[in-house]
Amino acid sequence: MSHPELSTSSLREAFGHFPQGVIAIAAEVDGARVGLAASTFVPVSLEPPLVSFCVQNTSATWPKLRELPFLGISVLGESHDEAVRTLAAKTGDRFAGLRTMSTDSGAVFIEGTSVWLESSIEQLIPAGDHTIVILRVSNITVHPDVPPIVFHRSTFRRLDA
Ligand SMILES: Cc1cc2nc3c(=O)[nH]c(=O)nc-3n(C[C@H](O)[C@H](O)[C@H](O)COP(=O)(O)O)c2cc1C
Repeated sequence: MSHPELSTSSLREAFGHFPQGVIAIAAEVDGARVGLAASTFVPVSLEPPLVSFCVQNTSATWPKLRELPFLGISVLGESHDEAVRTLAAKTGDRFAGLRTMSTDSGAVFIEGTSVWLESSIEQLIPAGDHTIVILRVSNITVHPDVPPIVFHRSTFRRLDA
């Protein structure tokens, strides 16, 4: 067993052993789609309906999303490995090759994903170099047959692989 020095890279490697799903969080800003991929999604509460994810304090995208009344959360499926990289890209169209659905509220959802949660920001909690974002869910759509993508040790995996 190894005991690496505590550093951002050893922590990233250690945290990577914990398998995570991946969401897209997206909305329209002045008619343009804005969003990012996040693997820190956690369901939080049933009553009231709350979920959370952690956003990097250095994110250039979050300040745009933070101002909006509604955000769309889409739980990405096993065929979305390419889409995760596109949604996380620093440059270019984050929605290239993706079909999306925008609601009247401004939330943007990715077609072909298993769960859509329309949500609004309830609370922001500073936490080191990230902020924990608590969101209240106002609408749910479920497509139960879409299997999830799993992010594990910097690799995208399927539940059956
Ligand atoms: C698999 C994966 C998971 C990610 N999870 C998060 C996350 O939980 N929180 C976050 O702020 N960024 C996360 N990112 C990074 C964002 O998707 C995006 O790259 C980042 O927000 C940088 O762009 P920005 O400066 O425009 O925000 C993740 C990226 C990948 C590829």
